[in-house]
Amino acid sequence: MRFEEERRGILSDIRHFNIETKILKFSDFTSVGIGGEPYSFVFPRNMSALQKIIECVKSKGIPFCVVGNGTKMLVRDGKIPRLVISLMRFDFQNCTEEKDSFYLKVGAGTSLQFLVALGIKKGFDGVEKIVGIPGCVGGAVKVNAGTRLGWISDFVEEVEVLTISDGNFCIEKIKPKFGYRWSSIKDKQIVLSVSMRFKKTKPTEVRDKVSRYLKKRFETQPVNSKTFGCIFKNPPNGESAGKIIDELGLKGFRLTKRIKISSIHANFIENEGGACFQEAEELINYVKEKVKQERKIELEEEVIKLCD
Ligand code: EPU
Repeated sequence: MRFEEERRGILSDIRHFNIETKILKFSDFTSVGIGGEPYSFVFPRNMSALQKIIECVKSKGIPFCVVGNGTKMLVRDGKIPRLVISLMRFDFQNCTEEKDSFYLKVGAGTSLQFLVALGIKKGFDGVEKIVGIPGCVGGAVKVNAGTRLGWISDFVEEVEVLTISDGNFCIEKIKPKFGYRWSSIKDKQIVLSVSMRFKKTKPTEVRDKVSRYLKKRFETQPVNSKTFGCIFKNPPNGESAGKIIDELGLKGFRLTKRIKISSIHANFIENEGGACFQEAEELINYVKEKVKQERKIELEEEVIKLCD
């Protein structure tokens, strides 16, 4: 009851901004299909809308979190007393053609799929390195998403981040450092936009490479299931975490009915419908423990948990 009242208050506080809001459960928002119900989602499309929302939540003390499009997120079940600001519609794109390259500035919510599609149309050399990754640019840059071919950081020139402290906004342009599935962007820094440069190549070459890699991805990963993408980073020795888990005989393994280790790629878990937070967490912990015992390797999760 209290939750409903608080929700009504928050929705009325933000209604006059005319920004899209939606009451959704995280289970209908995240790629893995798990998670409870926050007060509301709100989808600012531009800087002025984002600023209004953040000013409002800060001044009224409304608990909030900022997310992208919900890949690699594991959220607890039940009522979640937070307003969720999703940047998935914060997806402007400016593309300038220069002599040998394309310069691109895109909003954090731009999907990597869109970038790849644009790359095929225009001829972005190397864009196949980010083929098949379901996230959006902000999150991808924060964790330096990529494939065995390369990482998004191969194309990044500058990142615009927002920091909020004591109610003050600070927007700065930074040149982060990057490593395997890592960037120096701090948790308190919200990625707003990313400037990238791609060398020019023939669109037909890009299209051929992209379709080759997509085909491989369809053959080797459970792309049609509800998953986080890979659960664990590969360990520092460069081995595939999936291969390690597979070698322990865990493909298809399950602790409960509704969720299992994928039979296609062992670094994925598949929610077969209605799994809850605890089931996912227990399965992840089980795999981690098993790998630690058997292989003396401490796997590190890529998945970000929202538990409070
Ligand atoms: N392998 C197995 N069993 C498995 C999984 C893999 O034997 O269950 C073997 C494969 O046969 C291959 C080797 O392990 O010989 C490497 O597999 P893969 O090419 O799938 O690479 P990966 O290191 O397991 C990484 C990324 C993926 C990305 C692929 C393809 C990480 C944690 N994962 O997986 O990224 O799609 O390369 O480039 O770095 C993601 O970010 O969500 C993701 C899936």
